[in-house]
Amino acid sequence: MPTLPLIVDTDTGSDDAVALLLAAASGLGDIRAVTTVAGNVPLPTATRNALISLHMAGRADIPVHPGCERPMTRPLTTAQHVHGQDGMGDIGLPDPPQAAERRHAVEVLLSAPHRRPGELTLVTLGPLTNLAAALLRDRDLLTRYRHVYCMAGAADLRGNISATAEFNAWADPEAARVVLQAATPDKVTWIGWDVSRTDAVMTPEDQLRLERLGTPLATFAHHINRAVATWARDVTGLAGYDLPDPVAMAVALRPELAVEREQAHVDIALGDETRGQLIIDRRRTAPPPNLTLVRRVSETGFKELLFDTCARPEAHR
Ligand code: BDR
Ligand code: CA
Repeated sequence: MPTLPLIVDTDTGSDDAVALLLAAASGLGDIRAVTTVAGNVPLPTATRNALISLHMAGRADIPVHPGCERPMTRPLTTAQHVHGQDGMGDIGLPDPPQAAERRHAVEVLLSAPHRRPGELTLVTLGPLTNLAAALLRDRDLLTRYRHVYCMAGAADLRGNISATAEFNAWADPEAARVVLQAATPDKVTWIGWDVSRTDAVMTPEDQLRLERLGTPLATFAHHINRAVATWARDVTGLAGYDLPDPVAMAVALRPELAVEREQAHVDIALGDETRGQLIIDRRRTAPPPNLTLVRRVSETGFKELLFDTCARPEAHR
């Protein structure tokens, strides 16, 4: 199977890290560049974590470009209470051997598809600040990618950062609106937290399976999600920790894993009480759809991809 040429934009916390492993070590993805953004953790920490993850995947050669340090108009609110102070479960990971690039993430998002129109797939795993900043400079940017997949929103309005909003949409809702206003359903797909909550929860049995694999990738993927596991038990009440960014990456790598999709006109709330909440217009009189929303993913297919990747030996030792 040919590999998918990718740009990955990430606020690398512990689930972003697992998504990077899927893209870098499954044999399905060909990451041309990683761009980082403030979100789960401050920007320098997100960049460090992206470098660590690629090193773990045996792909320290992939360039990592730091991007925006804060949302477009709001102060940065991180999710370190979810992912740990270092965003990776506070397990004492050593510094990565490689350094980040100097070129700004927004420059990379703008220039990469110009060299290869319609060839690159963009996957965003954090707040949409970098992509929105790029769209302010090139309003047709989304059309230059083959497809854009975003882990963002909660289509069932069951939130993780607030009662009704998902973190990436909530963290920079103005940026999310810029993306939604430029989106078309043939080019842009969002995979929301509703999918993660239903189809990507690592149950105790799944966690045991990862531990028993015993490979460097499996051990890394499991241990860095330690803080999320505690948070999930205390806050969301799921039957384990969920993996929002990995399931979004899995859909990008293998679109057939998405078993239920919806096209709709989607906007986002900016007001204090409803910040980051999706406004999905399903009326017959709604404006034309601007977005494809993935609503269900094959849980078995996703987990097999995860376990197969983690079982591979080519990680850094
Ligand atoms: C999203 O927010 C972060 O906590 C995760 O990395 C994921 O991108 C889930 O709401
Ligand atoms: Ca993320």
